Amino acid sequence: MTHASRTLRIDLGDRSYPIHIGAGLLADRARLEAGLPAGPLLVVSNETVAPRYLPRLRAALAGRELRECVLPDGERYKTQATLARVYDALAAGRVSRDGAVIALGGGVVGDIAGFAAATWQRGIAVAQLPTTLLAQVDSSVGGKTAVNHPAGKNLIGAFHQPCVVIADLDSLATLPERELKSGLAEVIKYGLIRDAGFLDWLERELPRLLRRDPEVLAEAVARSCAIKAELVSLDERESGPRALLNLGHTFGHAIEAATGYGEWLHGEAVAVGLVLAAETSRRLGWLAAADVLRVRELVLRAGLPAKAPRIGAERALELMALDKKVLAGRVRLVLLKRLGEAVVSGDYDPSVLEAVLEAEVA
Ligand code: NAD
Ligand code: GLY
Repeated sequence: MTHASRTLRIDLGDRSYPIHIGAGLLADRARLEAGLPAGPLLVVSNETVAPRYLPRLRAALAGRELRECVLPDGERYKTQATLARVYDALAAGRVSRDGAVIALGGGVVGDIAGFAAATWQRGIAVAQLPTTLLAQVDSSVGGKTAVNHPAGKNLIGAFHQPCVVIADLDSLATLPERELKSGLAEVIKYGLIRDAGFLDWLERELPRLLRRDPEVLAEAVARSCAIKAELVSLDERESGPRALLNLGHTFGHAIEAATGYGEWLHGEAVAVGLVLAAETSRRLGWLAAADVLRVRELVLRAGLPAKAPRIGAERALELMALDKKVLAGRVRLVLLKRLGEAVVSGDYDPSVLEAVLEAEVA
């Protein structure tokens, strides 16, 4: 059965594409067919997601030339070796420029499959079918694809926009609690950077979100995607406003790196990063103490950590200096002028950042 769904659009000229959000979409043959090219298709998924969701996709695409590549599950497999398995499956399945890769899974699968599509035969189509909250609100939209290198996360990558994003909200039913909460950090981020009304709504609807109420989840995914769509459409390659999407991420990446990737989920580290960004903004005189408290409370109510691990101020600064937003040796931070309005700034007193790190991570 087809349920009501919403469609948003990323406007990027000839790289424009729709984002469909709704229940039952993995079984919606017409929707899938409309988004996909006619040639052979390779579904890339992993061993956790495939047993749950690949059968319904197979049924919906019955009659199509469908190949499958099921990867091991985990960030530690987001490597060149795993990528090589996708290329092997593309070669064995004779998937070429009239075909497509279908990424069925969370952000790890989406990033690997997206990068394989970006590079196979100099670029073939990819459809993103995200199955985690984080992937539905963030990683499936916007065309960033990558695998990790031993020297760092996402170092080998490309911008490659999908031909369609299909977010089936039903898939969130099986998501582990901790993963759902990790995705909520990104949802909160959208309210903080761009939409104070969305932040008010989140504060009200958080209990229903945590209970996975379908209507509230649909609204949270759609509002998040709308903000991401706006920023990506303005600035596909992150030379300007797209960087706002990194609120909390410079602090968050430092936490993930210092704790050895995996101990903290991405969203958990981002949640702490949101609080530290708010605190830095307060010390710069932009936010009131009550605003920082609001951010902290929302993060805690979402079941996310608000306190940083004690990784050391100097180490944190070192790791933050590796951020892709560093310009002329200066760490640029995404900060809050007020709740609902973020800015990217390298023009802050460094002693303010040092003081925050001394207080929060030393
Ligand atoms: P993930 O892909 O590892 O998924 C989390 C866990 O949930 C995995 O064990 C996965 O198998 C499982 N899972 C997925 N869907 C499920 C479902 N419906 N039911 C039950 N289990 C399910 O992690 P993630 O949080 O989705 O994504 C994190 C990755 O995304 C990181 O590698 C990060 O670098 C990347 N990322 C990319 C972008 C981008 O713009 N491309 C943005 C943010 C994050
Ligand atoms: N996740 C940040 C971005 O896509 O730009």
